[in-house]
Amino acid sequence: MEFMAFSTVLFLLLTLSLFPCSSSSSTKGFSLSVEETDHVIVSPNGMFSAGFHKVGENAFCFAIWFSEPHGQNTTVVWMANPDYPVNGKRSTLSLQGSGNLVLTDANQFNVWATNTSSPTSVKLVLNNDGNLVLHEVHGGAILWQSFNYPTNTLLPGQTLTRDTALVSSRSESNLSSGFYKLFFDKDNVLHLLYDGFTISSFYWPDPWKLVWADRFTYNASRLAVLDVLGNFSSTDNYHFMTSDYGAVLQRRLSIDYDGNIRVYSRKHMGEKWYVSWQAKQQPCKIHGTCGPNSICSNDPYSGRKCSCLPGYKVKNESDLSYGCEAEFRLSCNKNESHFRYFNHVEFFGYDFHYTQNSSYKQCEDLCSQLCDCVGFQYSFKKETGYADCFPKTMLLNGYRSPAFEGAIYLKLPKGSSFSHHLEEYVRNCSHTVNPIFLERGYVKGHEKMLVKVFLWFVCVIAVIEVVGISIIWSYLTISKKKSSIDQGYGLTTSGFRKFSYSELKKATNGFSQEIGRGGGGIVYKAILSDHRVAAVKRLNEANQGESEFLAEVSIIGRLNHMNLIEMWGYCTEGKHRLLVYKYMENGSLAENLLSETLDWKKRYDIALGTAKGLAYLHEECLEWILHCDIKPQNILLDFNFEPKIADFGLSKLQNRNNINNANFSTIRGTRGYMAPEWIFNLPITSKVDVYSYGIVVLEMITGKSPSMNIDIAEGAETHHGRLVTWVRERKSKGSTMASWVEEIIDPTIEGNYDLNKMEILSRVALDCVEEEKDVRPNMSQIVEMLQNPEKYCQH
Ligand SMILES: *[C@@H]1O[C@H](CO)[C@@H](O)[C@H](O)[C@H]1NC(C)=O
Ligand SMILES: *[C@@H]1O[C@H](CO)[C@@H](O)[C@H](O)[C@H]1NC(C)=O
Ligand SMILES: *[C@@H]1O[C@H](CO)[C@@H](O)[C@H](O)[C@H]1NC(C)=O
Ligand SMILES: *[C@@H]1O[C@H](CO)[C@@H](O)[C@H](O)[C@H]1NC(C)=O
Ligand SMILES: *[C@@H]1O[C@H](CO)[C@@H](O)[C@H](O)[C@H]1NC(C)=O
Ligand SMILES: *[C@@H]1O[C@H](CO)[C@@H](O)[C@H](O)[C@H]1NC(C)=O
Ligand SMILES: *[C@@H]1O[C@H](CO)[C@@H](O)[C@H](O)[C@H]1NC(C)=O
Ligand SMILES: *[C@@H]1O[C@H](CO)[C@@H](O)[C@H](O)[C@H]1NC(C)=O
Ligand SMILES: *[C@@H]1O[C@H](CO)[C@@H](O)[C@H](O)[C@H]1NC(C)=O
Repeated sequence: MEFMAFSTVLFLLLTLSLFPCSSSSSTKGFSLSVEETDHVIVSPNGMFSAGFHKVGENAFCFAIWFSEPHGQNTTVVWMANPDYPVNGKRSTLSLQGSGNLVLTDANQFNVWATNTSSPTSVKLVLNNDGNLVLHEVHGGAILWQSFNYPTNTLLPGQTLTRDTALVSSRSESNLSSGFYKLFFDKDNVLHLLYDGFTISSFYWPDPWKLVWADRFTYNASRLAVLDVLGNFSSTDNYHFMTSDYGAVLQRRLSIDYDGNIRVYSRKHMGEKWYVSWQAKQQPCKIHGTCGPNSICSNDPYSGRKCSCLPGYKVKNESDLSYGCEAEFRLSCNKNESHFRYFNHVEFFGYDFHYTQNSSYKQCEDLCSQLCDCVGFQYSFKKETGYADCFPKTMLLNGYRSPAFEGAIYLKLPKGSSFSHHLEEYVRNCSHTVNPIFLERGYVKGHEKMLVKVFLWFVCVIAVIEVVGISIIWSYLTISKKKSSIDQGYGLTTSGFRKFSYSELKKATNGFSQEIGRGGGGIVYKAILSDHRVAAVKRLNEANQGESEFLAEVSIIGRLNHMNLIEMWGYCTEGKHRLLVYKYMENGSLAENLLSETLDWKKRYDIALGTAKGLAYLHEECLEWILHCDIKPQNILLDFNFEPKIADFGLSKLQNRNNINNANFSTIRGTRGYMAPEWIFNLPITSKVDVYSYGIVVLEMITGKSPSMNIDIAEGAETHHGRLVTWVRERKSKGSTMASWVEEIIDPTIEGNYDLNKMEILSRVALDCVEEEKDVRPNMSQIVEMLQNPEKYCQH
């Protein structure tokens, strides 16, 4: 204890002597100039400094960093203007008389401000914990604090909230905002997101695992904090303790430019940081690491390596995140292409299709028949005893690991002489390190020599870090007894594209071929530039803001189920809001019912598939989505007559928490399919979809439309009634179970049916349309009954 006190005093004396012209607090009228490099604000304990930080030649950011004894190798923990560096001449940070803290570029324009104002005197203080605080001198009310606006680092005690996110730097040398983000998503879970040029996807927690299995999704307070001892806790029930839990001098949690989050610690000032925890043990499993069409592999010496696939070449030498591009064109003729095999290589996501228990031949045929298939993943699973087939339209998130038991088969033109080996492109320092060069008036830097030294310096640091990290990494993996060989491979598209309006205009041929209407917009057929056939829904001009639209679209885009229509992307430009879906060959259930193309088996399977899709939306899905407009027009059929629910998510998304306070202000839905709750203004729950589903099933069974009046013949009399009433009456009057079912079944449909199945289907449908919502079954009960008709049959 005494030693600690002594060393603290020594440390204080040391730092005070190191920073002669610095202060820990400043009042109105105070100003920092970019030209006085030793003019910094220092925290009382000397640990942190705030001032202008050089980010490139003649480019500076106002930042907070860990003080270093020799002022070298500083670690920045916060920046005011990462994306707008200021000129190295005449830029200032000043605390104006109004109480506004303003960063001015080259004495010309403001690039950043706290936008605060106070009638009384205010004070700018850098606290011992690294928090830069602007507060009123009298009363001490806090006007602004840097802890509320994190950049890429969270310091002990600093909370990540629902409104904040950590964003990585672009690269080692470019400190502007990069591709990776740590934040609480709408599901109240802390996620890591890769947000690339055109693709975005979540990669932590592992996307193929059900997030809600080990995270708590219901605490909407959304707070996460690392304490000084190294205990991290988050309201989604995610906790960890650093490997060096206990008192150390300094800690920080940072999202690095490589997309990993790490906790760094050090025991003494001026020492190198060591990693005491990291989120992803396998750096190659971080999405976007090597860009498209390339493979990431772990390398014990250099960390990770990227390789282009054979036939592909590096797209942008100066920025490897662009990945690789094809040097060939694939012909649509299957005779002109062949497949080349690469073992232990996995590409995650972007599957065109997914077939369980597929033979190699079937899988190859599937891919060679599709023009836009660029290869397929074929992996044998020991647990199931059969192999799964995943044809790919895009090759993203590729990595090679001996632990992955599967292979990629790459489609290449026949007779091509591409290498059989994966060519590695190692990060080339002279390529990747691009200093920011700011050309904004004033004298340009005359420090060419210094820049070269800076470049070398960054290279050296990079090598040291990579080696350090890989040593720690291998230590961590060994100590985990290789238990983390988690190679789940699931059907996830885990991301979708942003399209430009002109691209979609071209794809739809100027919005010429209309294929449907309703649900807030018109749907057009489109051929995308990669030859995929799509349905583009052009939403009616909405008042919805862009961020709101993006928020909703990102949720819809993440929903993945066999019986939900697959969304490929969206477009938001000016007033245009468009959604891009997979095109469904067989149109809607409504059209198919009209043309009587569906036999009884197909009808049963459609009812079951639709129930599965709805059960997913209602119960398994993170956001508990109500569809609110289930009708035959919104159930689409793919080439195999597999039903796909469309237009989900267009209704207001509802959270499980506030399920009882109906906050639907306007009635949604379609006459004939609407539950009584809408009419009587009762709370809206998932049971409204159950009701609509029941009506759709009755329509499929009887071939009668719910909105039309039906002539009900009672002996000699005839009267009008609704479909539901009519079916109920048949049931109550029927002498045996079999006869009432036979009576309601659409007589125009030829072919045999399984009476047990039809009976269960009819009974389920009638249960669904009960007036009292609590009597209706829920969707998963319906799925259970339809899957086991013999078990629930009454005779
Ligand atoms: C201050 O206001 C400007 C203009 O409204 C805004 O762009 C900026 O983000 C605000 N700064 C902060 C720290 O909120
Ligand atoms: C949510 O988290 C906060 C902070 O940890 C806690 O106070 C609150 O009780 C939690 N709420 C629920 C519903 O668990
Ligand atoms: C870590 O933090 C959590 C939540 O605040 C707490 O429950 C737990 O006891 C802490 N662990 C230790 C070792 O302090
Ligand atoms: C700081 O940078 C210099 C090179 O400029 C390097 O030699 C030294 O090892 C670095 N120190 C630490 C603690 O990383
Ligand atoms: C390559 O990357 C650099 C740096 O990001 C960028 O300035 C340049 O436009 C890119 N070139 C191409 C052809 O995309
Ligand atoms: C592909 O080859 C087969 C057998 O050689 C032939 O029958 C078929 O017509 C060829 N297909 C095309 C599109 O050339
Ligand atoms: C996989 O397919 C084969 C051949 O079609 C079949 O014999 C086998 O039972 C299937 N296995 C499973 C688990 O479905
Ligand atoms: C790195 O880039 C330089 C300049 O383009 C080139 O001369 C050198 O061969 C490259 N090194 C590697 C290992 O690719
Ligand atoms: C740094 O990254 C930003 C984008 O994040 C980019 O606009 C800028 O050109 C990059 N600077 C250099 C020198 O590559």
